[in-house]
Amino acid sequence: MFILQPIGRVSSPYKDTQDIPKGLGAKHEAEGVLEIQPEFEAGLTDIEGFSHLIIIWVFDRSQGFELLSTPPSDNRPHGVFATRSPRRPNPIGLTVVELLRREGPRLHVRGVDMLDGTPILDIKPYLSSVAMESLRRGWLQEAEVRRDK
Ligand SMILES: C[S@@+](CC[C@H](N)C(=O)[O-])C[C@H]1O[C@@H](n2cnc3c(N)ncnc32)[C@H](O)[C@@H]1O
Repeated sequence: MFILQPIGRVSSPYKDTQDIPKGLGAKHEAEGVLEIQPEFEAGLTDIEGFSHLIIIWVFDRSQGFELLSTPPSDNRPHGVFATRSPRRPNPIGLTVVELLRREGPRLHVRGVDMLDGTPILDIKPYLSSVAMESLRRGWLQEAEVRRDK
């Protein structure tokens, strides 16, 4: 077992999961603020130099998990670890956001898909090293092909 302490909360325009864009082609362009607790502010030193950040957070309003489910982007079931479902054995979310600016312990970002008040566990700079031509997107790519037929 692990005990994790949130380092802050997301201030998001989304108050209800229904408000968050879902499904194939959904765009996440909403702006929000990562409100980091004052005792962790020194940990943000030098973060301004990064254009994008990985946010690791908790699906704090999800209950239980399903090992197989049909995501909004397909009409076929997939295993939880092949999806980004909020209902997972360890309810951990991961979102890549664009850093717009920092005001002390507040990071203004674009691309939030979390509910307002979501607890943040960690922040890391985004450093992609996978070339586009090496990426395979599995069932998601197949669902896009079926949609476009
Ligand atoms: C498909 S998940 C993807 C989240 C993240 N980008 C990831 O890949 O882990 C996004 C959905 O999680 C749900 N969600 C967002 N914030 C949540 C929270 N704090 N608790 C529970 N569900 C949440 C919403 O329904 C939202 O549309």
